[in-house]
Amino acid sequence: MAAVYDNVAVVGAGTMGNGIAQVFAAAGSTVELVDVDRGALDRGLATIEKSLARFVAKEQLSADDAAAIKGRIRTSQKIAKSDAQLAVEAVAERVDVKRAVFQGLDRACGPETILATNTSSISITTIAAATQRPDRVIGMHFMNPVPLMKLVEVIRGQETSDETCAAVVACAEALGKVPVEAQDYPGFVSNRVLMPMINEAVFCLMEGVSTREGIDTVMKLGMNHPMGPLTLADFIGLDVCLAILQVLHEGLGDPKYRPCPLLRRMVAAGHLGRKSGQGFYRY
Ligand SMILES: NC(=O)c1ccc[n+]([C@@H]2O[C@H](COP(=O)([O-])OP(=O)(O)OC[C@H]3O[C@@H](n4cnc5c(N)ncnc54)[C@H](O)[C@@H]3O)[C@@H](O)[C@H]2O)c1
Repeated sequence: MAAVYDNVAVVGAGTMGNGIAQVFAAAGSTVELVDVDRGALDRGLATIEKSLARFVAKEQLSADDAAAIKGRIRTSQKIAKSDAQLAVEAVAERVDVKRAVFQGLDRACGPETILATNTSSISITTIAAATQRPDRVIGMHFMNPVPLMKLVEVIRGQETSDETCAAVVACAEALGKVPVEAQDYPGFVSNRVLMPMINEAVFCLMEGVSTREGIDTVMKLGMNHPMGPLTLADFIGLDVCLAILQVLHEGLGDPKYRPCPLLRRMVAAGHLGRKSGQGFYRY
């Protein structure tokens, strides 16, 4: 598979960033994986190694190829001068943090470099406005786990050029993904449709319409969803679900997006799902 870009920078080595680095390296790119936290870089590399080992065990990848993929990823703690043709940002879901990262990327990268964000819900237009190149800023929304999930939502900001969009669509295809274009409105398509469903499932639980198992089973067996909405919310993180619902509520101004009081209460209690050991289920 030919790589679209020889050099790619990925900023943020967490859940999403390490997966994004892996898929680019697997397609042949040399990847600079950047994270302010050395521990996050080490954990990111360990996750990549484990993921590649699973592909080798399933005989979908040779041990030599796995080693070559790993060898194409280097790490650093700072975005210094970069020769990347594409940079993908996957840092915390906070607008101030992302704008600061984009200002840094704008200075560090050549004028032709495309700057993409993996944001789940923050406005691409707002992030792009922090740079001198809003025409080359775009949303490239990968799904978790990145090496396995086929979808990439490609989101055009107000100023994103047709060339930038076409290049990112072609790049996603070269990674073996299926790109879908969306406009820059709160939640794009994925979370605009998913989060109200999860929120409604939490309302059903709060109102005693059914039990957590009952609600999840209805959606699994009745709608053929691979995972019930409460299980999925625990997997995503209840704090993340709440933050996205707040973006939808505020950005679209429609009360139908108001986060369920039970969801707010769970987050206030520190019950964040899988990552905290307790959400709608115990882990
Ligand atoms: N987790 C998911 O399922 C998922 C799915 C799709 C999109 N996203 C989006 O992807 C992005 C990253 O999410 P995540 O779950 O990987 O988060 P995460 O918390 O696992 O990782 C974020 C990483 O960014 C690093 N970081 C923070 N500030 C930085 C900076 N200034 N420079 C460099 N590194 C910095 C942190 O040290 C951390 O390692 C978010 O925008 C999120 O909304 C997440």
